[in-house]
This record gives sequence, structure tokens and C-alpha cells, in this order.
Amino acid sequence: MLKERLVQRIRSRGAITFAEYMEAALFDPDGGYYMTRAAIGFGEGDDYFTSADLGPDFGRALSRVAADAWAALGRPRAWDLVEAGAGRGSVMRDMLAALERERPEAARSARPAIVEVSPRLRSEQAGALAGRDLRWATSVLGLAPIQGLVFANEVLDAFPVHVLVRSEDGVREVHVDEQDGELVEVLLAPSQPDLRWRVPEAVAVGGRWEVSAAAEGWIAQLAAAVASGYVLLIDYADDEAGLLARLGSGTLRGFSRHRLVGDPLRAPGEADLTATVNVTAIRRAAEGAGLRLAGMGRQRDVLLALGIREPTARPTAPIEQLRAASRRSAVDTLLDPNGLGAFRVLLFGKEAPTEGFRAFPTQRRTDDPRGPTR
Ligand SMILES: C[S@@+](CC[C@H](N)C(=O)[O-])C[C@H]1O[C@@H](n2cnc3c(N)ncnc32)[C@H](O)[C@@H]1O
Repeated sequence: MLKERLVQRIRSRGAITFAEYMEAALFDPDGGYYMTRAAIGFGEGDDYFTSADLGPDFGRALSRVAADAWAALGRPRAWDLVEAGAGRGSVMRDMLAALERERPEAARSARPAIVEVSPRLRSEQAGALAGRDLRWATSVLGLAPIQGLVFANEVLDAFPVHVLVRSEDGVREVHVDEQDGELVEVLLAPSQPDLRWRVPEAVAVGGRWEVSAAAEGWIAQLAAAVASGYVLLIDYADDEAGLLARLGSGTLRGFSRHRLVGDPLRAPGEADLTATVNVTAIRRAAEGAGLRLAGMGRQRDVLLALGIREPTARPTAPIEQLRAASRRSAVDTLLDPNGLGAFRVLLFGKEAPTEGFRAFPTQRRTDDPRGPTR
């Protein structure tokens, strides 16, 4: 079992950082949650659901970002539509279907691809996208140079985080040690000296601060892989001020069977572990890697701007009316201002125009001296 292997590793080599623990708990090839177990959806045996599980309207709305990206790039005869971390593959499936209906020319010239690290989820994706000509890669660099759109929904939150604590004696980092075969938290000196400086002054003694160096590195990889085009990121996220307002308790949590897991160290690999994304840090990493912010907003505003409330065909038969009602309630969940609707949406461009996206109708241009609107 993964837990026993981690205990052995700590006994022979000493305590590991929480980030190393989280990396193993999620991505260990033989015991990591995403590699062996990930169960996403509404079923009893599933652990959590995402916007992707709420019917075809999320993918239909996002297909309009893809269509706008294609148009902004000058309607190229071949362009890449890449999803990173595609879960069960339903968003890519729904996007391609909507693009075929609404922008057949863009659909015909699209080269769809998925970047996925989990073999288990890759096979679910292959099932959802059966019959489509699609490429898979384990790293976005395997698809470079990309001309088009790379998008990722709820992927940044799955990257390991370093957990730092301000103590009376300065900044300490949460490490994982073992005691009688159980994994326990200990505070040690930061594993990398620069982590010390990442904790904002406003974090009080006893307060926690998470830094996802891995997520920041991943953004830089996306930026390097895109030759010209866009990166669209959607996630539960907050800016630095919002994260500071949480009184320093940190945002790390685990999910199993739709319930919060009390102790993330108890059963590594059995639960999803996740942390709220720090938008300020991600934006800094993206811009440092050569991406330009093209738009930023909340999922609710972005999906409304993309026309998610537009009805499809008017239902006549009672069964169709029932289906339409259930679809409307799924859309309400996507727009819930206290839930998925509060997620952050960030669009970055590289070597490509940053205007003309229906997702951000009121956004000022990023080269406007007043800066973007948010
Ligand atoms: C929380 S799930 C979200 C899945 C899907 N996007 C959705 O909205 O339902 C995270 C996904 O990202 C994948 N993933 C995690 N780290 C990754 C990485 N470095 N590169 C590519 N995919 C990754 C996981 O295997 C999983 O498919």
C-alpha cells in the first residue's frame, strides 16, 4: 500500500515535505489517487463532481471561447484545441459537438488533443471520445508548438502545495514524518530558501500559507508549448487578499465519496486532495512566462456572456420538457454565485490578439493604460 511505502521511505530517508506527500498521494503510479482510483461524477461511488458533470451546456459555452480564439488567430486552416487534465472527457466531447453545430469550419480545421497524466482517466476519455481522431500526450510539451487554445478546468487545484507556517521563530514548512507506522505532521525549516519569502507579511503567527511551485511551473510549460494562441484556466481560486482574509487556516482539503476528509495524512491515495488556487501567484507566473492576460472573471459572468441561458430547440413532447427542465437546473448549478459560479476564469494570450472574446465583453484591452477591468 502507498501508506506503507511512504512510511518506509521516511524511515530510510527522513521526513518529506507536504508537497512531496501530496504528489505521491495523487500521482504515485501504483497508488496515487488520480492514477488508480479517481472517481469523478455524481454516483454513490464517486468522490466529487465538477462543472463537466453537469450536462452539455458547459462544453457548449466553452466551444464559443474556442471559436473566438480560432477567429482571433485569423481562422487558420489547422489549429489546436487542447484540453489539459480532461477527467472523464465529457467537456472535450461536448465542445467538439457544439463546434460542429455552431462553427463547422472551425470544427473541420481543429486538431483536438488531450494532455493527461492518468492512464485510468485516459481510457475513460477514449471511451467518451470514441470515433474521434484525437491525440493524447502526458506533457503539453509533447504537443508543441501549439497554435490555438489550451484549456484546463479544475486542474491547477490538483497540483501539490508547499504548506508554510509562520511560527514565533520564523517561517517553517509542514513536513510529513512517521510515528509508529502512522504519518504525522511536523514543522521543519523550509525545504527551499525562497519559500520563506513567499509568505505574505500579513500572515500572523500560527497562520498557514500554501505555495504551489508545481502549478506555477506547469503554467510556464503551457506558455512554452504555445507558439501562438490562448490558455484558458477555470478553477476555484482566490486572489492573495481573499486568501489572507481566511485567517491563515490554509485551504487544503480532501474529498472522498462526496464528503470532506478530516485528516489528509490518514489514507494517502484514497481521497482527492486539493487546495484553492492562488490567482495572484498564477497570474504572476503566467505573465513571467510570456503570457498576456486577455480576460478574467467569475464563471457565472463568463458563462452568461457566452450565452449559456440561450435555449436550444423548444421542447414539445412532455419527456423533452422534463429534459429541458433538468438541463436548466444543471445550468443554475453552474451559475450558482456561492458555488461553481464563483470559480475564476482566466484567459491568457501569446503572440495573438487579446480582444474579441465574447466571454469578456466589458474587458478593457490589457494594453489600455488603465489596465484590464479586474
Ligand atoms: C480535478 S480533475 C478535473 C477533470 C476535468 N477537467 C473536469 O473538469 O472534470 C483533474 C484532472 O487533471 C489531471 N491532471 C492532474 N495533473 C496533471 C498534469 N500535470 N498534466 C495533465 N493532467 C493532469 C487529472 O488526472 C485529472 O484528469
